[in-house]
Amino acid sequence: MAKTRLACLLTLLSTHCYFNVSAVVLKTNNESPWTNEFDKIELSCLIESISTTNPRIEWKKITNEGPSYVYFDRKISGDLENRAMIREPATLLITNATRLDTAKYRCEVTAADDQKSFDEIVIDLVVRVKPVVPKCSVPKSVPFGKSAELSCVEDEGFPKSQYQWFKNREEIPDDPKTSLKFFNSTYTLNAEAGTLNFIAVRKEDAGEYFCRAKNDAGYSECPPQKMEVYDIDVVGIVLGVLVVAVVLLCITAGICCAYKRGYFSSQKQTGNNYKVPAKGDGVDYVRTEDEGDFRHKSSFVI
Ligand SMILES: *[C@@H]1O[C@H](CO)[C@@H](O)[C@H](O)[C@H]1NC(C)=O
Ligand SMILES: *[C@@H]1O[C@H](CO)[C@@H](O)[C@H](O)[C@H]1NC(C)=O
Repeated sequence: MAKTRLACLLTLLSTHCYFNVSAVVLKTNNESPWTNEFDKIELSCLIESISTTNPRIEWKKITNEGPSYVYFDRKISGDLENRAMIREPATLLITNATRLDTAKYRCEVTAADDQKSFDEIVIDLVVRVKPVVPKCSVPKSVPFGKSAELSCVEDEGFPKSQYQWFKNREEIPDDPKTSLKFFNSTYTLNAEAGTLNFIAVRKEDAGEYFCRAKNDAGYSECPPQKMEVYDIDVVGIVLGVLVVAVVLLCITAGICCAYKRGYFSSQKQTGNNYKVPAKGDGVDYVRTEDEGDFRHKSSFVI
């Protein structure tokens, strides 16, 4: 009787133990790690339980085009070659991340001797890219009371850049009504699109503007550009047109006078079919031609 009980107990124990060890179970320290471009990053894949001594470990990169091998047959392959290594037991270390590394990565461990012989874990890696200098467009001068659009674009940054605008080194608030300085300005600011739109510019809107593109990885700015605001001066325009008309009149009168005095007529009679020699054959030409004649004709051409 005692013997059977002992056997029972042993069976229970061993069954308990059996279930405990005979399964491969993975875990990670960080399911969604991130790093900046050209930095290192660890994709942690830890084996919580296993009884197989030599499990098969594989990493796959999963993009829209499907999965591809990153670690297979104990070798780093694909575009991570020479940029990554495995740290025991299964953690993937990327030493120089690029923006193209942003993807899901799957750590797969096959343990042939375990009853539950397979487990996998998915890591979502984001490689952040600092914005480059944005392209900014600021109108040089805008007539008073007219609309104006300032734009700022930056396409390299990841995650996508957000935009801030500055006027004379001071940040322009999202809503002009929140600031005493900008209170009467008519702009709307779009931080997603990078645009600063004035419905009607005021004299006070003139100044030096620049834009900053920023994301989690950092920021970049374009150089300040001046925007001037001018009055449409009707009197000025009329005066300007008058001055131009007077100048044109004088020029016309001058040409007429010159005609009458015969400045142009004397040259008409020398208008034969003489051709200017092509550049480069000048030396031969001068030798074969009568010099006096040549000078006379060439002076006409000039
Ligand atoms: C990382 O890779 C970039 C090109 O992808 C290269 O220019 C840079 O020198 C590399 N940095 C290191 C530390 O290897
Ligand atoms: C805004 O306009 C109002 C009315 O024209 C004026 O009284 C006020 O001083 C202006 N505020 C600023 C900050 O220019």
